[in-house]
Amino acid sequence: MLYDRKWSFYNPVQVVSGPGVINELASHVPEGDMNKVLLVTSPGSTARGVTGKLKELLGGRRVIVLDRVCPNPDIASIENYRTELEQENIDFVVGVGGGSALDTAKALSCLLGLDDPQFSLREHLTGNVALPDIPPLYMIAVPTTAGTGSEATPFATIWDDCSSKKYSLVHLDLFPDVALLDAELSLSLPVETTVISGLDVLSHALESVWNRNAGPLSISYAARAIDIALDALPALVEKPRDLEKRAMMLTGSFYGGVCISITKTALAHSMSYPLTSALGVPHGLACGFTLPALLAYNARSDDGRLQMAAGMAGCGGISGLSTRLEELFAKIGVRDLLEKYKLGAEAALALADRMFTPERSGNNICPAGLEEVRAIIKASLPR
Ligand SMILES: [Fe+2]
Repeated sequence: MLYDRKWSFYNPVQVVSGPGVINELASHVPEGDMNKVLLVTSPGSTARGVTGKLKELLGGRRVIVLDRVCPNPDIASIENYRTELEQENIDFVVGVGGGSALDTAKALSCLLGLDDPQFSLREHLTGNVALPDIPPLYMIAVPTTAGTGSEATPFATIWDDCSSKKYSLVHLDLFPDVALLDAELSLSLPVETTVISGLDVLSHALESVWNRNAGPLSISYAARAIDIALDALPALVEKPRDLEKRAMMLTGSFYGGVCISITKTALAHSMSYPLTSALGVPHGLACGFTLPALLAYNARSDDGRLQMAAGMAGCGGISGLSTRLEELFAKIGVRDLLEKYKLGAEAALALADRMFTPERSGNNICPAGLEEVRAIIKASLPR
């Protein structure tokens, strides 16, 4: 069923996890001529004092701060950053924040490493121009949200504002060199961000189970990520500064990243993209709200792996997992979030025909067409 299929695994990221590990940042910079660092982060990190602390931790190096990263980075802004930074001769990159900061850092480590002004990111993502085989700059990833798992993957999500399409920059060299998982950095994360990014963790885990590319290793990591999210996410809504639960979610997020680095995502993500680009629904919510309906839908085609993953996640079986998901959604307030972001059935149904990204929706173990997608939306959203 799973073990008799071909599967492979590659993940070169050195992971260091634990409260306070950010203080070891400088020790993860390789020896040699590594004096100029690009620090990519969000305005929020600077406002919370994280940027200042990291500059101190990087010692006497020259630190160039790019803290204008906004949610859902697009091709034009990344090309602009590249133009600004091209003459700086950056030696390495540190990305700090959520998925948008880490993905921007990855893209820039790649583009600045190429040292080729003729190479066009837009042409690569939207056309057939190959990415030259030149290693990106050395990169350290410091996630401060638990959701994207970007620190564990060779992908960077980049949007095209002109076409409202989502692209992935993909290369085996895009795995960060080091990931520092320091839960202390996520202690002050607002509850809403915690919940929305936590839904992304669950989405990555579940999407890698009902996935044609699943294998024994991805199922094991997914089951642990599901177990962690079901336990830690509601606890963090009650007590956001619980360090152990924060550390659990960072671990779960890394596991989810490992999962999708093996399988890539599936239908929930494919359905989410127009909801984010056209309606502004945050990524984790956009791909998370369909999970209970997708579990029921994919359970029909289960070859045993969903049942196995649900058991390994401590839910007994598929029906137990379904109940736990329902309970979780109630506890973490998914319905309120859908209302807040004005995501109703009518608005989502109007975008249904744009919800098919073949390299994502095609991964689903149970094939879905427009009729099925419309049914999943109706089962997931109040009318
Ligand atoms: Fe995601």
